[in-house]
Amino acid sequence: MEDKSSSLLGVQQLVHRDDGSWHMAKLIQKRENPETHDTEYYVHYDGLNRRMDEWVPADWIEPEASPAQETAAVIGDHVHEGSERKMTRNMKRRHDEINHVQKTFEEMDPTTAALEKEHEALTKVKYINKVQLGKYEIDTWYFSPYPEEYGKQTKLWICQYCLKYMRLETTYVHHLNECRWDQPPGKEIYRKANMSVFEVDGSVHKIHCQNLCLLAKLFLDHKTLYFDVEPFIFYVLTEVDKFGCHMVGYFSKEKESPENNNLACILILPPYQRKGYGKFLIALSYELSKLEKSIGSPEKPLSDLGKLSYRSYWSWVLLDILKDSRVSISIKELSEMSSIAEEDIVGTLQSLNMVKYWKGQHVICITPKAVEEHLRSAQYRRPILMVDTEYLRWSSSYKKAKVNRKH
Ligand code: ACO
Ligand code: ZN
Repeated sequence: MEDKSSSLLGVQQLVHRDDGSWHMAKLIQKRENPETHDTEYYVHYDGLNRRMDEWVPADWIEPEASPAQETAAVIGDHVHEGSERKMTRNMKRRHDEINHVQKTFEEMDPTTAALEKEHEALTKVKYINKVQLGKYEIDTWYFSPYPEEYGKQTKLWICQYCLKYMRLETTYVHHLNECRWDQPPGKEIYRKANMSVFEVDGSVHKIHCQNLCLLAKLFLDHKTLYFDVEPFIFYVLTEVDKFGCHMVGYFSKEKESPENNNLACILILPPYQRKGYGKFLIALSYELSKLEKSIGSPEKPLSDLGKLSYRSYWSWVLLDILKDSRVSISIKELSEMSSIAEEDIVGTLQSLNMVKYWKGQHVICITPKAVEEHLRSAQYRRPILMVDTEYLRWSSSYKKAKVNRKH
C-alpha cells in the first residue's frame, strides 16, 4: 500500500481542493504529518502560481482520474476557449496575472526555462506552513531557507518587533516577556497619523535584516538575498498603536545600484494586503528617487502581484500628469517629472493605447477624449494611501557618501 502510493510521486493526479473543486496537480513529495501522523503529499496545481502549492492529505488524491473528470477540472479553472479568442493580448495578460496563471516551460525562452527549472528544483517543497507574528497567524506561500532545525517545522513563532524566530510557543511566550523592542531599529523617516516608516541599514542591523529577508522569502518566489544584506537599506512600514509599531511590510533598496533600481524587493504581509500599502511603498520609492534627483525602476523580474501593483501605480501617476498638461509632453519629460524610467512609461502607455512608434521612436499619442475615458476607467484609481512629502524626513546619505568617496 505504502509502496504503491510512493510511486505516485512525479505523477499528475486529480486533487480535491478546499473549495470543493478538483484540479490536476503534480505530486512532488510525500511525508508523515509531524502533528497528525497522517500521510500527506506536497502538490503543485497545473497552471497555478506555486504559491498555491500545498500539503494535502493522501485521501484527497483521486487514485485514478477518469478522462471526463480531467476535462471538467481543466475547463473549470481556465478561460473558456471561445471567450479567450475574443480577449485582447492585454486583457489576457491581466487575466493571467490576476488568476496567477503561470507560463509553461515551453512558452519560455530556453535560458529562462533552464533557470526556472533549476529554481523550481531548489525550492520545491515548503515545510513551514504558518508563522505566528504578533496577533496574526499567517499561512505561508513559498519555501524559505531557515536553518535546518527551524526549516522542517510546520509553524514558526516570530517576534513581531525584533523578528527572532522560534520553534516552540513556550520559547516565544518567554521571549515576549524579555524582548524590549516595540518598533523596528533604525531611523524613523516618515510619520503621519498611524503610519510610520523606518530606515534600517543592512550593515548596522545585520541580523535583524537577515531575519526580515527570511520572513519575506515565505511570500516571495524569486528572491536570492537572505544573508548578504549589507549593501541594502530596508524601509519598514508600520502601523502605530499604543503598544508599538507593527510591521506591515517593507521594501529594500541597494545603496548603490548600477542598474538604477530604486527598489529591490517589496512585500506587504498578507493580513495587510489589498489595502493600498503596496502602492504607498512604491510611491515612497519614487519620492526617494525624486529627492535624489534620479530616475529609478524596480528590480526585475516582478512577481504577478508586483506587476499588478506597479502597473496600477504607473497608470495613475501618468494619467494624473497627462490630464493636467495642456501642451504636448515627451516621454523624457514625463520621466523627469515622475522619476519613473522611460521604458516603464512606454510599457504603461502601451497598455493604455497611448503611444505610437514613429520615425524610430515612441511618441505619446493622446486626445483629450482618450485621457477622459481612461480617467473614468479601472486603470485610473487614485491610491487609497498617498505619501505626504511634508512628513518625509529623508536625505540620500548613501549617495552623498558615494560622491564624497570619489573626490
Ligand atoms: N489580485 C488582484 N489584484 C491585486 C491583488 C490580488 N491578489 N493584490 C493586489 N492587487 C492589485 C490591487 O487591486 C491594486 O490595484 P488597483 O488599485 O488598481 O485596484 C494593486 O494591485 C496594488 O494594491 P495594494 O493594496 O497597494 O497592494 P498590496 O498592499 O496588496 O501590495 C504587493 C502589493 C507588495 C505586491 C503584495 O501583493 C505582496 O507583498 N506580494 C507578495 C510579494 C511580492 O510579490 N512582491 C513583489 C515582488 S516584485 C519585486 O519585489 C521587485
Ligand atoms: Zn523580540
